[in-house]
Amino acid sequence: MFKTIVCKNYDEVSLEAFKVMKGVLDTEVNPILGLATGSTPVGLYKNMIKDHEETGRSYKDILTFNLDEYVGLPRDHEQTYWTFMHENLFNYLDCPDCNIHVPSGVGDDPEKNAREYEEELAKHTVSIQVLGIGSDGHIAFNEPGTPFDSVTHVAELTEQTISDNARFFEGDKSQVPTKAVTMGLASIMRAKKIILIATGANKADAVYGMLKGKKTIDCPASILQDHADVTVIMDEAAASKL
Ligand code: GLP
Repeated sequence: MFKTIVCKNYDEVSLEAFKVMKGVLDTEVNPILGLATGSTPVGLYKNMIKDHEETGRSYKDILTFNLDEYVGLPRDHEQTYWTFMHENLFNYLDCPDCNIHVPSGVGDDPEKNAREYEEELAKHTVSIQVLGIGSDGHIAFNEPGTPFDSVTHVAELTEQTISDNARFFEGDKSQVPTKAVTMGLASIMRAKKIILIATGANKADAVYGMLKGKKTIDCPASILQDHADVTVIMDEAAASKL
């Protein structure tokens, strides 16, 4: 079931997302956080850092599981999701590295990395999963066509996603990895609660497909229509086609 919140601007979106996150942090003992990369959740992470600094909330016993990671970049490369999460969140909290889980995209057997990640993830229930959405309706790196029963796997990125993400690689599409290890759609659906954040007019079609379209693998985010507790927080541009 979807709850939708439309906000005036990015700051409001980030604050609303934080309110939902705070609800979980305040009520669950050692919640398990499912986290996402991309530019959209950065404002949420800033609010979490501010809250940690101002209230002293501790993340020492909180486990985190990230959605995905590029294949083929060394872990400390400036564009890995490992680096992104440290620069935008983990470095400012008191969570020990051993409680942080980000899929591994290194080594010569990414399929094995995916299997091991799924095994670890399956031992836990994510309390709240943060999601962004791709302009083609992907969540994590589950591109259109990904089966709804997929678990963590190696995914091929679409041309659209490679072009969208080239902005992080000096605008050069040839530098964007073509594969990623990603939680699958079924892995994501196991989370107790989901918040999906979307901003900008380039997300409007994907947001429409997710909320109002037919449930179809052509719009991977439409699987969320079957989840019991999803809050979609968006700005007016992302909501403009609803
Ligand atoms: C990447 C990530 C997704 C993210 C998407 C949108 O493809 N794998 O998890 O939702 O980008 O990113 P942005 O928030 O920068 O638009």
